[in-house]
Parts: sequence; C-alpha cells; structure tokens
Amino acid sequence: MDLELGGKVAVVTGASKGIGLAVAERLAREGARVVAGSRTETPGLAALRDRHGVEFVAADLATADGPERLVRAAVERHGRIDALVNNVGGAVPRSGFLDVDDQGWQRAFDLTFFSAVRATRAALAHLLAHGDAAVVNISSVNARLPFPGVVEYSAAKAALSNLTKALSEEFAPRGVRVNAVAPGPVRTPFWTDPGGFAEAVATEAGGTAQQALDEEVPRQMGISTGRVTEPEEVADLVAFLVSRRAGNISGAEFVIDGGQVKTT
Ligand SMILES: NC(=O)c1ccc[n+]([C@@H]2O[C@H](COP(=O)([O-])OP(=O)(O)OC[C@H]3O[C@@H](n4cnc5c(N)ncnc54)[C@H](OP(=O)(O)O)[C@@H]3O)[C@@H](O)[C@H]2O)c1
Repeated sequence: MDLELGGKVAVVTGASKGIGLAVAERLAREGARVVAGSRTETPGLAALRDRHGVEFVAADLATADGPERLVRAAVERHGRIDALVNNVGGAVPRSGFLDVDDQGWQRAFDLTFFSAVRATRAALAHLLAHGDAAVVNISSVNARLPFPGVVEYSAAKAALSNLTKALSEEFAPRGVRVNAVAPGPVRTPFWTDPGGFAEAVATEAGGTAQQALDEEVPRQMGISTGRVTEPEEVADLVAFLVSRRAGNISGAEFVIDGGQVKTT
C-alpha cells in the first residue's frame, strides 16, 4: 500500500528510542522528511540521520517552551509541517495514589499531556495551512485501565485521549485529522532498560526481565495474543493514520494491545 508520504514533513516527539524512534524510521522509510525531538540523540537516531536524513532537535519537551522550539526548528528547516506525532510520555512506578505528591502529578502532566498541548498549539497554524494534515497522539490503554501503580500517568493519558476528540471536533472540518493510538505493553526501553518496568515485574515474579516481558506481563495483564506489542507494529499503525489512506478517519482511538482491554 503506497502511503503517499513522500516529501511530507513530520514532527515526532520523544523520538530517540522506543515507539518514537520506530515511528521516525517508518515515516522516513516512506519518504517523509522527519524532524525528531528528544533530549538526547541516541545511536539509533544518529543511524536514522545517516540513512534517511532524519533531523534531530534537542529539546526538553516537558518544559513550557521545549515543544514550541521543536516545532519552530521544523518550520525553519522545511517551511511546513504536514504531520505531528505526539509520542513523548512516560511513567515512574508508584506504590499507589498516596505515593504521588503535587510535583509528581505536575511532572506527569507536563511530560505526557502538556507536551502534546504545547506542540499541537505551536504546530496548528502550519498544519492548517495546506488543508491536509494529521496529528496522532500516543495515548495508552491506561487511559481506560487506570492502574494504581501509574495513577498520575493514567490520568494524563485519559486527558490526552479526551483532547484528541476535542481537537478533531474543532480542526477536522478545516483539514487537520486528529487521532489517538492506545498501546498496551510495548517492548521499548521503558520496559527493557535497567531499572525499567520489566525488571520490577521480574523482582516480584522471579526470573529475568526478558522472561517477565515475554511471559509474565502477557499472563498477568490478560493479553489474549500472549505477547507484548513490538514498537514497529505501533509505528505501522501511526504511519497509516498519518497518511491519506486514513483520509476519513478522525477523532478515533485505536487500541493496539493484543486483546488486553476486555470491554467493547
Ligand atoms: N512502552 C509501552 O509499553 C507503552 C504503552 C502504552 C503507551 N506508551 C506510550 O508511548 C510513548 C513512547 O513510549 P516508549 O515506551 O517508547 O518510551 P521510552 O522507550 O521510554 O522512550 C521515551 C522517549 O521520549 C524521550 N523523552 C523522555 N522524556 C523527555 C523529555 N523530557 N523531553 C524530550 N524527550 C523526552 C526519550 O528520549 P530522551 O531520554 O533522549 O529525552 C525517548 O526518546 C509514551 O507516550 C508512552 O507513554 C508506551
């Protein structure tokens, strides 16, 4: 399927590893000019620069001006933006609600919700300029399955899913489609890094971090397919939503969780 992304300019937030890196790679392979924002340029992102011309912009996207600086850099380099993927976000493991103080709540919302608010606000004039653009917000199944261990993250993702619909209502009539992708567990550094969530599960369940991610997480979380999602699978869905092939899809949220969420 030709996604017709050749020459399109796409901004991807949190793109130095994990899902963001996979999205940057997928869009670049389709011929898009990708501007990737994160705090550091990883070897993976440097390889995309060399192979596909993906451009890196260093920015702390949890700050008030970080997202706007990323968007401005993309416009300065390419003069337009056709797609924005609000991917940056993250959680820290908690023992529960009483473990999160005001700073913790603020940090979660800055990273996971306000980063998308600020990037979208900065990009909208450019997205609207050509009447054919797309925003994809990376939400989470935690938007509808709020786990106590990631209580503030879950609330921030619920806000992001809600914002997706509001933005679609306002801007789809003017040519900017807005959708969300809500993954269940995805094999990224968020899980696999030392000190990541897979290690935490392994500490409780026994075995290695890899066994935890391959066996324990799918079992504990009731993932019907019996495995976690790969970042490239999320990237395929995002690339489709960004493309004209999804030209009449807006205000929708696509769960990619191997059947973890049991409700319709
Ligand atoms: N993995 C999962 O199981 C899963 C499931 C559902 C939803 N999600 C969502 O998918 C998105 C990506 O998750 P992931 O698992 O790929 O995460 P990850 O592996 O932890 O990667 C996070 C990315 O965001 C960047 N980042 C983190 N803090 C940043 C900041 N303050 N400013 C700029 N960039 C920052 C990181 O780069 P630097 O450190 O270089 O800045 C990195 O590129 C997140 O929104 C997450 O909530 C993930």
